[in-house]
Amino acid sequence: MPEEASYRASEPGARIRRLSAAEAEGALAELGALLTDAVAGGASVNFMAGFAAHEAETFWRGQIPLIAEGRRILIVAESDGRIVGTVVVTFAPQPNQPHRADIGKMLVHSSARRRGLGRTLLAAAEAAATESGRTLLVLDTETDSAGHQLYAACGWTEVGTIPGYALTPDGRPSGATIFYKAIGKA
Ligand SMILES: CC(C)(COP(=O)(O)OP(=O)(O)OC[C@H]1O[C@@H](n2cnc3c(N)ncnc32)[C@H](O)[C@@H]1OP(=O)(O)O)[C@@H](O)C(=O)NCCC(=O)NCCS
Repeated sequence: MPEEASYRASEPGARIRRLSAAEAEGALAELGALLTDAVAGGASVNFMAGFAAHEAETFWRGQIPLIAEGRRILIVAESDGRIVGTVVVTFAPQPNQPHRADIGKMLVHSSARRRGLGRTLLAAAEAAATESGRTLLVLDTETDSAGHQLYAACGWTEVGTIPGYALTPDGRPSGATIFYKAIGKA
């Protein structure tokens, strides 16, 4: 997915596109609102209940240099001009893993779920990783979460589950399930 390219979204009126570092900087408030919506809804995405808008913006601000350096790709879904979804591709930095990337911050706003945006964002992330020469994607997700269902529905292979890996936003231990997908091969 070249930086200027957009990706066909399944939902009418929705657009999937890659944000440059400057565009991400200009969208910090919207990106932050999306992340706080996910945490407030109980999603296990590294943060705890009470996660504030300014903390969410700080998280996204921290992504900007990584995007600028080409170490991460941020793809967003927009509906009616508003950001309603994100996914981040992180290129593995290890010299012996030049073919691998991780998927993270797969978020769709609670008002826009089950319309295919998650599936489309994931496909866009896979396409962007492929275009960058990566052939293996890895992620972890809260066991039995919507994310777990999404990756299973999108052809990812479940490796296994680590019990008690993280806390839910309200402090309950939850398992993490590891997935991988080989991409870009005929
Ligand atoms: C996970 C998430 C991104 C899915 O986004 P979405 O736009 O609702 O997903 P889609 O509409 O593209 O769903 C694609 C498929 O995934 C599966 N799926 C998605 N959400 C599901 C759910 N809540 N329950 C069961 N299956 C689900 C279904 O198979 C679905 O296909 P279908 O609607 O035809 O049945 C969204 O629920 C979310 O942002 N959750 C909070 C953040 C989070 O937990 N992210 C994952 C972090 S690893």
